[in-house]
Amino acid sequence: MSDPKTPDPKKLYIKTYGCQMNVYDSERMAEALAPSGYVTTDQADEADMILLNTCHIREKAAEKTYHELGRLRPLKEERPDLRIGVTGCVAQAEGAEIIARQPLVDLVVGPQSYHRLPEMLARGIAVETEFPEEDKFDRLPQRPKAQRGPTAFLTVQEGCDKFCAFCVVPYTRGAEVSRPVERILAEARDLVDRGVREITLLGQNVNAYHGDGEGGDWGLARLIRELARIDGLERLRYTTSHPNDMDDDLIAAHGDEPKLMPYLHLPVQSGSDRILKAMNRRHTAADYLALVERIRAARPDILLTSDFITGFPGETEADFQATMDLVEAVGFGTAFTFRYSARPGTPAAEKPPVPKPEAEDRLHRLQALIARQQRAAQEAMVGREVGVLFEKPGRQAGQLVGKSDHLHAVHVAGPDARIGDLARVRIIASGANSLQGQLI
Ligand code: SAH
Ligand code: SF4
Ligand code: F3S
Repeated sequence: MSDPKTPDPKKLYIKTYGCQMNVYDSERMAEALAPSGYVTTDQADEADMILLNTCHIREKAAEKTYHELGRLRPLKEERPDLRIGVTGCVAQAEGAEIIARQPLVDLVVGPQSYHRLPEMLARGIAVETEFPEEDKFDRLPQRPKAQRGPTAFLTVQEGCDKFCAFCVVPYTRGAEVSRPVERILAEARDLVDRGVREITLLGQNVNAYHGDGEGGDWGLARLIRELARIDGLERLRYTTSHPNDMDDDLIAAHGDEPKLMPYLHLPVQSGSDRILKAMNRRHTAADYLALVERIRAARPDILLTSDFITGFPGETEADFQATMDLVEAVGFGTAFTFRYSARPGTPAAEKPPVPKPEAEDRLHRLQALIARQQRAAQEAMVGREVGVLFEKPGRQAGQLVGKSDHLHAVHVAGPDARIGDLARVRIIASGANSLQGQLI
């Protein structure tokens, strides 16, 4: 019999868009709402509250929010007490405008205010997009002690002071803030106690990390070395990095810290000095190539990935060719490629755009080159012995899927009982987007 004093739990459905930080934030929001009686569900149509955790990085990403809200209308009409909230970077960028445009929205909460969600619900506050003084991480409740999967994200730094001319992140996530070392260590130990064996440290500018630690200011390399001492934690990664913040210490850690995986996402955006300057990236193509050389000197087998934008305002065919040359020179494991999208409020949005067909054509040529490099990088793994951390069963029975040290997805025949194991695997074949291996 149910106790009349404890009402049935309410169901919370969160849909996450955008970057890994949103994935992390969605988890923390679910935890913040647990004391208010919410349990998560993966069925939107049975939810009492739906949160869209949104991304504002490109126009298409932002439009998805309104599209999805439109699709929720019948659900809201059927059940008027369903609460619908918009969180994340669209919430931060557009605030109350969202409710004006789509009145079915009850709540708008920016990324710095998630700890205020329970209070907003209790007091009927609809919009919260301030950048408060207190650290949101301190106010979010501790994670409950449930077992969890072998990999986890952990935000160590948030916000960005770089102001690349195309990018909304400094406006939606605010200024760079690093979490103190002790808090991160405590969260990491707790994750490991609950079964996590690989942690990816997150930040919009993660290698600009400067947190308060014992004896003063700690950089990311020192934080990584300290985290690596946690027993039971087998692997560390971090993302996303800016080339200008790759300091000597961090490069050295790639060479001598065995738990730091041989993989680095290092966005460069363009290979043209003129465009890099117009983007306010504050380095040249030659600087990037020299940096890659230093990183590879420290860790020769490191797999590098990157982000590129084609059709940035003013980009000529020669500028684009310089990007292709840089890609040829580096040889990436893979890369995210985007056609430039003008974002209101950013400096680049004021400039005349490159015609869409041209930007699109360059995008496709770049993607073809990246695809070739991705295949080559995967094929180079065939015959090698690699570490694989098994994360879940594969699509076929008796199959496991995990990530290699180089972050390749690897399929292996093996029993479910091995999920969570870090195994030695021989790579036997390379497929479209994953590798096949055999347990050794
Ligand atoms: N903080 C990270 C990632 C930022 S967003 C970094 O600094 O690298 C992820 C990627 O989206 C960027 O690297 C960039 O390639 C792309 N991007 C950002 N703004 C964009 C825009 N206005 N149009 C197209 N792509 C964009
Ligand atoms: Fe955006 Fe990254 Fe540039 Fe910061 S460093 S402004 S997050 S692209
Ligand atoms: Fe998107 Fe915000 Fe992340 S704009 S990429 S969700 S920081």
